[in-house]
Amino acid sequence: MLAKREHKKNLPIILEASLKQAKLDGKKKPVDAVAVTYGPGLEMCLWEGILFAQDLAKKWKVPLIPTNHMEGHVLSVFGKDKGTFKIPPPTGRQAKLKTPILSLLVSGGHTQLVLTKKWMDYEIIGETLDDAVGEAFDKVARMLDLPYPGGPQISALAEKGRIKNKLEKKQFLRSVSQADGPRGSAGLASPDSDSAKSASFLALPRPMLHSKDFNFSFSGLKTAVLYLVRDLGGIEKIDKKTKSQIALEFENAAIECLIHKTKKAVEKYGAKTLVVAGGVAANKHLRNEMKKAVGKKIKLLFPTRELSGDNSLMIGIAGYLNYIKNKKKVPKPGTIKATGNLRL
Ligand code: KG4
Ligand code: ZN
Repeated sequence: MLAKREHKKNLPIILEASLKQAKLDGKKKPVDAVAVTYGPGLEMCLWEGILFAQDLAKKWKVPLIPTNHMEGHVLSVFGKDKGTFKIPPPTGRQAKLKTPILSLLVSGGHTQLVLTKKWMDYEIIGETLDDAVGEAFDKVARMLDLPYPGGPQISALAEKGRIKNKLEKKQFLRSVSQADGPRGSAGLASPDSDSAKSASFLALPRPMLHSKDFNFSFSGLKTAVLYLVRDLGGIEKIDKKTKSQIALEFENAAIECLIHKTKKAVEKYGAKTLVVAGGVAANKHLRNEMKKAVGKKIKLLFPTRELSGDNSLMIGIAGYLNYIKNKKKVPKPGTIKATGNLRL
């Protein structure tokens, strides 16, 4: 109910601001069509959007295009943060994406591997059996007493831990190379042995890493963090360094699962394009590791970091491409229904 109310309050404010910014305010027919999300998501909120968009389409006498939120994420890779841009034609020689396309969709509600053999056709070949990866980031952030949304917070903390570990390793190697005598004879304790000890203590599972399918599971990983925090005496007893090491190990574990399955799917289906999209696609470690994992043979596309999370631009792009594809099949206003569990 709270979310629904926020939608109702914010939609007219955002509309006014966007039309103004695009210098389209005051026009009788500012746009050629209106795209609206009809699922997946919270139905009460989806309804707010649909009714609002319906009124606009009626007022401006333009078609209303129902759009799938997840397709929006896939097509968000065509968007730009600022200025004007061209959306490539969906098929033919000018089409930007070579098929088969594999999409890894990672958000707060979904973790899916989607195969596209024919442009704008989608087959889900794997997905999470429980929590979505973004949801796991958010829940673990809560356990570590970090504010919502947890993804960016965990990621920032993990990065600190990663840098610190690298520095410690560098310092150790320098002191070894400066010490007299054979390696280790100067009585230097390897930080590796230390971090190996703490690493094994903090080690978290990589659920379903070696399962033969393309599914994921993140609830066990989340629970493992819960037990770890409990075993360390609760979050109040955990020092800053350990907290960042937990965030680091959690991020490493979650991202490793995503990368491993994606790489396997790329190989099995001979994907020529890989799209990684959804809120978690903003994660720097995921971006870096994915680049390393798939190499240069495949075209790897991410949305800009700003367009990784939910945004209306991706719905506009998906709506536009669907309109081009199905011009004659635009549904009558009033027939669009909010569909909470809509599938690709
Ligand atoms: O796609 P999105 O904006 O909303 C849904 O459709 O769910 O995704 C939101 C999710 C949240 O769980 C948020 O914590 C996560 O994306 N997220 C991140 C990062 N930025 C956002 N997760 C990991 N690392 C990030 N940098
Ligand atoms: Zn989303």
